[in-house]
Amino acid sequence: MIQLIFENREQIQQEAAERVLAMLQEHPTAILGLATGSTPVGIYQEIVKLYTQGLISFKKATTFNLDEYIGLPETHPQSYHTYMKRNLFDHIDLPVEQAYIPNGNAPDLMEECLRYDELINKANQMDLQILGLGHNGHIGFNEPADSLTNGTHIVELREQTRLANARFFHTLDEVPTHAITMGMGSILKAKSILLVVYGEEKAEVAFKALTGPIQTELPASLLQIHPNLTVLMDKEAGRLFND
Ligand code: GLP
Repeated sequence: MIQLIFENREQIQQEAAERVLAMLQEHPTAILGLATGSTPVGIYQEIVKLYTQGLISFKKATTFNLDEYIGLPETHPQSYHTYMKRNLFDHIDLPVEQAYIPNGNAPDLMEECLRYDELINKANQMDLQILGLGHNGHIGFNEPADSLTNGTHIVELREQTRLANARFFHTLDEVPTHAITMGMGSILKAKSILLVVYGEEKAEVAFKALTGPIQTELPASLLQIHPNLTVLMDKEAGRLFND
């Protein structure tokens, strides 16, 4: 595991975007695992800048998103479909048929989990997986639990997660109770993982997850076993690593 602590978020956004650029320059057909939440927004903005400057192309790339809410219409402003379009897909040359996001409105959600896993299995593994960190240590929507799931599955969101994500909705009631998420197995299978963590409020969970015991109650702690994990933190999130 490589941990890098930066003075500010802008530096992290540039670093992460440059890693995506390097990946696509070396492997134009790279498979990228993408995350949502507030953390990657600035990274996507940097990527769009690189694209606008003609430095990066996604024409041959494939992307897999980690997760999607269940029951939110795809066009809802807070669906991860909308998020990806707004923050990245509408601004780059990634062909729409090469961008995969689980369908949280599929009539048969179990079937949708299998379909998503088949697509992931066909791709074999992500070349680069971008991850944010949930306030309770979740990854994607793999919530703390007695056991974790290998493949794509349906998850009931923890109250802490719904409360954390309520900031994007008008009321807590509007926050979906369930989501569909890529499993920890698919995430850990990635060739390289870039975990990005911002802010004082995640300092403790980041430190515990990356230095404490590996436990299913802290899904991010499983990242410790990954052979090619890079963690980018601002100085607030990385505070405890310096002590
Ligand atoms: C969300 C997403 C995660 C994300 C996390 C942190 O619920 N499902 O993929 O990493 O929460 O979000 P944020 O970056 O807004 O703190």
